[in-house]
Amino acid sequence: MPEALDAFLTRRTGWTWADVRRAIQCRRVQVQGVVCKRYHRQLGGDETVELDGAHILDGPDHGTLICHKPRGVACSHAPGDQPLIYDLVPPAWRHPNLQTAGRLDRDTTGLIILTIDGRFQISLTAPERALWKRYRIRYSGTLAAGASEQVAAGLVLADEPRPCLPARLTLEAPGVAELEADGGQATLELCEGRHHQVKRMIAALGGRVTDLHRDRIGALTLPDDLASGQMRALSAAQRSLLLA
Ligand code: URA
Repeated sequence: MPEALDAFLTRRTGWTWADVRRAIQCRRVQVQGVVCKRYHRQLGGDETVELDGAHILDGPDHGTLICHKPRGVACSHAPGDQPLIYDLVPPAWRHPNLQTAGRLDRDTTGLIILTIDGRFQISLTAPERALWKRYRIRYSGTLAAGASEQVAAGLVLADEPRPCLPARLTLEAPGVAELEADGGQATLELCEGRHHQVKRMIAALGGRVTDLHRDRIGALTLPDDLASGQMRALSAAQRSLLLA
């Protein structure tokens, strides 16, 4: 079905109507390789649209992306939190309803899913689903003796009456990290997602997280060939790993 140029660009970029119209007015938009200044230009199904030289594809409106989040971007839509993870989304995949499924802190790196499919987002974040997530940690300080056992039993955080759900903490070179005065590395697997949970758990055990990277959600591992800062469409096979 034909669609007006400004409607198409608003839908596919997530920009406001006013910003899209400004871009059209400023000759930043081309249709079929020719600058187009008519907002209401009706697009045929196979006509190409470019914005600032980037081809804007009419991708699916139920798109889901797998992303390797770099350090320094916020999982937020608030302009005051810039730079945002949404700034990394290729124009063809931008959409006003695109949201991260859960959040990683600005200084956390690794696997995160973005989707415009509300039901899929809920299936990844709903507490009842208790999806396991794996975090690789570097920490400073010395963790309490028996740290892994405390985590397996349900760690109590200083400012919360309800203990954490039982989780799995694996210390790199077990026994050694506990003796080192200046920190170590560990892997923590959690099936809940409280605010800053990993950092708070490590703090409760006497350490301080200096580097945090998530490399697995459910049965889906961050692909080796997805470089930091990159994202791409989630494949059907990857989707089933998340729903397994
Ligand atoms: N726990 C944290 O403390 N930070 C994250 O980004 C994710 C889990």
